[in-house]
Amino acid sequence: MTNNETPGRSNYLGIRGWFWGGKYGVERYLYFLHRLTGVGILLYLVLHIVVTGTRVRGEAVWEATMQAVGKPVFRIGEFLVFVAFAFHALNGFRLILGELGLLLGKPVKPTYPYKVAQWKLRPLALGLMILAAVVIVLGGRDFFFVSK
Ligand code: HEM
Repeated sequence: MTNNETPGRSNYLGIRGWFWGGKYGVERYLYFLHRLTGVGILLYLVLHIVVTGTRVRGEAVWEATMQAVGKPVFRIGEFLVFVAFAFHALNGFRLILGELGLLLGKPVKPTYPYKVAQWKLRPLALGLMILAAVVIVLGGRDFFFVSK
């Protein structure tokens, strides 16, 4: 038994496994980013509810909260939420296709050199990441330069 292993759960890597699970392809890094962005957006949702909830404590509290969250650091934070959402939504589209078995091709006999069905979605992964980059750049332009 190596240090990684827990009795009865020989492949268990814990949170460390989110970051590094072995020698995998690009999809493994997309998986990590999907989880990171998913949890990030979820935390933002909680924060958003807490911030907007201050309205019930009266107008003065609300105004003070709005002034506090209007600082540039929060603007950058909002942009990061946008970046996370753009990545998560577009990568999620690829995951949905894969999980529904779409665009993976027909099953073939496992003959060497082996082919992984997910590789069929690799060009789509690349295309979606380029699209995410375009959306992020356009969004950033709007965020910081157009709608100041
Ligand atoms: C267009 C919008 C979205 C799409 C297409 C999408 C798609 C997906 C998909 C397909 C998964 C499953 C990943 C897998 O099978 O491994 C997933 C996981 C997840 N999503 Fe989303 N999602 C969207 C929006 C959101 C939002 C708004 C939140 C948070 C409020 C969120 C939080 C999460 C979390 C926490 C996970 C679990 C990640 C993990 O366990 O690795 N997603 N999403």
